[in-house]
Amino acid sequence: MAVGYRAVQWNSAKRWIDLGLVLFVFVAVGGYIVATGMTHPRIPGGPLIYRGTAIAAFALLSINLAIGPLARMDRRFAPLLYNRRHLGVVMFSLASVHALLTTMQFHAFGDANPLVSIFAAYRMEYDPFAQQTGNISRFPFEPLGAIALGILFLMAATSHDFWLRNLGAGWWKRLHLLVLVAYGLVVLHVALGVLQSERSPVFAGLLLATSTTVFGLHAAASWRERRADRDTAAEDGHEWIAACAMSDLEEGRAHTVTVDGQRRAVWLHDGDVHATGSVCRHQGGPLAEGRIIDGCITCPWHGWQYRPEDGQSPPPFDERIPTYPTRIEDGQVYIAKDAAAPGEEASHG
Ligand code: HEM
Ligand code: FES
Repeated sequence: MAVGYRAVQWNSAKRWIDLGLVLFVFVAVGGYIVATGMTHPRIPGGPLIYRGTAIAAFALLSINLAIGPLARMDRRFAPLLYNRRHLGVVMFSLASVHALLTTMQFHAFGDANPLVSIFAAYRMEYDPFAQQTGNISRFPFEPLGAIALGILFLMAATSHDFWLRNLGAGWWKRLHLLVLVAYGLVVLHVALGVLQSERSPVFAGLLLATSTTVFGLHAAASWRERRADRDTAAEDGHEWIAACAMSDLEEGRAHTVTVDGQRRAVWLHDGDVHATGSVCRHQGGPLAEGRIIDGCITCPWHGWQYRPEDGQSPPPFDERIPTYPTRIEDGQVYIAKDAAAPGEEASHG
């Protein structure tokens, strides 16, 4: 574990990104309210706020979902990873304001409980079979937004380490992939809701471009990783695995190698080559995307640290990642197939 969460220190852009986030919210929501209020003076304040917050929330959700795959494909985006939690909290707050105001506007004045009304109000009005023309303009789009908000709430509530420990890293990660489902629901919420009355091709084009970019980036990043997993680490028939050339290694950074479907990180540190596991003991962060700071491999997500030579977190912490012996021959780096014994310094080239 990191001493005082040090890893974020290498992300000097962190505060600037947070400041940019606050500015973005002011400019996006305030700008929308002022510009629309001036050009359409008959639209009251309520709709201006619930539309402005909705558009800003959608933009932030799209940006947040793009950061992960971008960082996996290009390290220059890695400093943004740390800000994802702040971005998520701001996005969830904006979406909640939008949901609260629309619920008050459209569901607070009937006999039914407003929360029930979100799901039940359409039942009498919407009958897809009765609409001969295939008109979808009355599709119950609000429940889609409500389910998305529920999923986003679940993500926020389980982001704490308590849930990671109790669910286990595999289930926790699977659960958090639900955020893509929430995103899909929001896209449908907008397409089947406001776009049915707001027919301008500009809005439809923006929604299509944004959502295909987000889903496209996820597909591209996982395709690249799967291809890399297939291509790397050709076994040379012994207990050693040919990992990479010495010239592939960069001081303080990792080269990723996949062995039996599991990623390993090969590091160059002070002229020595070390091989370790690539999964952080905290929340399964990608250690190979981090770097070595003060002699320790530093996770890019929240800064937990491990010594490259024995995989041990520096005192007083006792987490450990596996390490693998390494060997260098003719400029080629080999790593052992099996991990060194816990706590033991792996021999290295
Ligand atoms: C209980 C949950 C929700 C309810 C009841 C709800 C309701 C609505 C309603 C009634 C509209 C149409 C407003 C109008 O006439 O312009 C709308 C639009 C919209 N909603 Fe939601 N929504 C919910 C959740 C969400 C969430 C979680 C998001 C995104 C994070 C979202 C994003 C949007 C967007 C981007 C629009 C289009 C804004 C515009 O009018 O230009 N909504 N929502
Ligand atoms: S420090 Fe949190 S996942 Fe590595």
